[in-house]
Amino acid sequence: MSPLQPSSLVLRYALIALVLAAVTGAFARVAGWIHWPGSEPTLTPARMIDAFENSMGLHAGFRRNHAKGVCVSGYFDSNGSAAALSRASVFERGRTPVIGRFSAPGGDPSQDDAEASVRSFALLFSVRNGEQWRTAMNSVPIFAVATPQALYEQLVALRPDARTGRPDPAKLNAFLAKHPETMAFRQWIDTHPPSSAFYNASYFSIDAFRFADANGNTRFVRWSVVPDTPYAPSNDRTNPARDPDFLAHDLSLRLQAGTVSWRLMLTPADPGDPVDDATRAWPPARELHRVDAGKIVIERAESQIDGGCRDINFDPLILPHGITPSDDPLLAARSAAYAVSFDRRTREEAGVGTHRR
Ligand code: HEM
Repeated sequence: MSPLQPSSLVLRYALIALVLAAVTGAFARVAGWIHWPGSEPTLTPARMIDAFENSMGLHAGFRRNHAKGVCVSGYFDSNGSAAALSRASVFERGRTPVIGRFSAPGGDPSQDDAEASVRSFALLFSVRNGEQWRTAMNSVPIFAVATPQALYEQLVALRPDARTGRPDPAKLNAFLAKHPETMAFRQWIDTHPPSSAFYNASYFSIDAFRFADANGNTRFVRWSVVPDTPYAPSNDRTNPARDPDFLAHDLSLRLQAGTVSWRLMLTPADPGDPVDDATRAWPPARELHRVDAGKIVIERAESQIDGGCRDINFDPLILPHGITPSDDPLLAARSAAYAVSFDRRTREEAGVGTHRR
């Protein structure tokens, strides 16, 4: 074959770029991640992270959300029962090491723990066959909004007003009026005080995923981890002598006395249950058929500054064979946004410079 002339090379690269752009664009539109040009300004992962920085502050070297956290490690002991739902090797009977991170939503790594009404738990399972399963869960079973565009609008509405240093109530009210789907989340928060510790909270995948068993049968599943330590509400918001870092300090004390553990529970959907809308819970009756996949045990905690979770991106789309994403548009958005956040914070850590917009 004769070498390509410069002009035909340019043409070929242009064609490849066009095809790539079309494929990426198609994925992004299917995922509800970007909007047609002309309708609204295009929402990109970078604009989403800019919005997090604008509303929650920019703290160089830290995650753009869930900035305050603590690294943990331990293992998952699978009892083999979940193999009925997924052929993923992680569900075969046996032990899988995990690295995790407890955190709370927010952009400030030094925020007072008493201000957080949600707790979070991220996990990376290092499976024997070399695969990884990463998940990032919150202590609320539903999300406030259903789409990346709505989350972006929420962040814009929460941006502190330059004069008061607080969000503008008029903007917030306009957002809430436009997004009645946020009501279920707000009601849940109002009726469920946050747990007194990281280790007595349940954590939820919120998004649904498609599980495939060894015969190719598929079911949509949401998972949760249910603590062996009974839930107790936090009273620290009203305690004037509180420690602003009580969650991490208490965890480290508790781990000196022994491990903490959860059951990994898989809840299959019935046909017709919403599997692409994280604002909508499934009927409580679904919990009657949930599968206990085994025990997650946390043995150690260490600082997020130099601990094992520091350089992990808990991207919820890193999944083992046997689990694939649902059509929930938040999933693609999370994956893309976490990558931008990871890229910015690790560059800052490496001293390449604070990201500037
Ligand atoms: C089901 C909904 C969601 C859940 C359960 C969730 C949960 C979490 C958790 C637990 C973390 C902390 C991960 C860690 O410890 O490293 C996290 C980080 C983050 N989340 Fe989400 N999230 C959700 C939706 C979203 C969405 C829709 C966005 C934006 C598109 C977003 C943006 C972020 C960002 C920027 C980070 C920091 C990522 C990093 O630098 O590693 N989250 N999320």
